[in-house]
Amino acid sequence: MLTTALTERLGLKHPIVQAPMGGVAGPALANAVSAAGALGMITAGPPDGPGKIERDAAEMTERFGVGTLAWRLDEDPEILDAAIAARPAAISISGGEVVPHAARVNEAGIPLLVQVSSAVGARAAIDAGADFVVAQGTDAGGHTGWVGTMPLLEAVLPVAEDTPVLAAGGIASGRGLAGVLAMGCAGAWIGTRFFATREAIGSDERKQRLVTARETDTVHTRVFDIAQRVGWPAEYPGRALWDDFTARWHGHEDEVPLEGYEGGHVYAGGAVGAITDIPPAGEIVEQIATGAEARLRELP
Ligand SMILES: Cc1cc2nc3c(=O)[nH]c(=O)nc-3n(C[C@H](O)[C@H](O)[C@H](O)COP(=O)(O)O)c2cc1C
Repeated sequence: MLTTALTERLGLKHPIVQAPMGGVAGPALANAVSAAGALGMITAGPPDGPGKIERDAAEMTERFGVGTLAWRLDEDPEILDAAIAARPAAISISGGEVVPHAARVNEAGIPLLVQVSSAVGARAAIDAGADFVVAQGTDAGGHTGWVGTMPLLEAVLPVAEDTPVLAAGGIASGRGLAGVLAMGCAGAWIGTRFFATREAIGSDERKQRLVTARETDTVHTRVFDIAQRVGWPAEYPGRALWDDFTARWHGHEDEVPLEGYEGGHVYAGGAVGAITDIPPAGEIVEQIATGAEARLRELP
């Protein structure tokens, strides 16, 4: 058993959080992950409003967290009302300035996780009331900053001092979890690996692309946000699988067509290269936890 500030505070068996993923992480995935002893998160992604959280929360039979986006809370504060009303085990805020939203989560007595991409962001999150800092490196799938997970942890861990840090971006196995625990993290926040599971939302064809892709097949790009007119702040491009659309438009952002894009892109991080199957999510939790324990036992 790996006991950390994360497992103790949130009552988990394993120091693993399944990251919120817009359009991918819903109740089926979150229930499967939590039933296996980690924390499953439901997601308020870019197009989602408060009703989405209410519907997803109603389907939860296990402990769960709710993932929100700061820039969406700025636009629609009722998203946070719905998240708080769902009484989750934790609420996360990613993608921007967490004041004043953090105070509302603190007042509700719900543990707050804030996803950051710099040491300055970590300091601001802690000052705003974060109970956990999620240090998300650019290796991550989805929208992310510019610093790799390893150098980001090197910068954030000393700044965070008494606030536990979770590592996000590029972790897909027990090796990765063992590595970040050894660095001093309280756990891992994992997205892409949980996308390639049976319970994640998404077609088999999209999930098969995760199995086929190598670690060299991702691109950090704004072209999908531009084409879909999604309001993600420009400083957070999304890491996705390289495809025909990025081949045509990445590097030509000013010319991306604003009509007619039909979607089909797959957000995924560099750890996609380690994915070889699409198992039930509970098996992934078990594999990562037991793999990390074995690695740590074998350390010289
Ligand atoms: C398909 C996909 C969608 C994502 N959507 C969101 C989101 O809506 N909100 C959020 O906070 N993070 C989102 N993320 C980022 C994750 O929270 C997390 O930081 C990331 O997946 C960790 O890196 P990894 O993919 O290498 O495990 C998304 C990631 C992926 C892969």
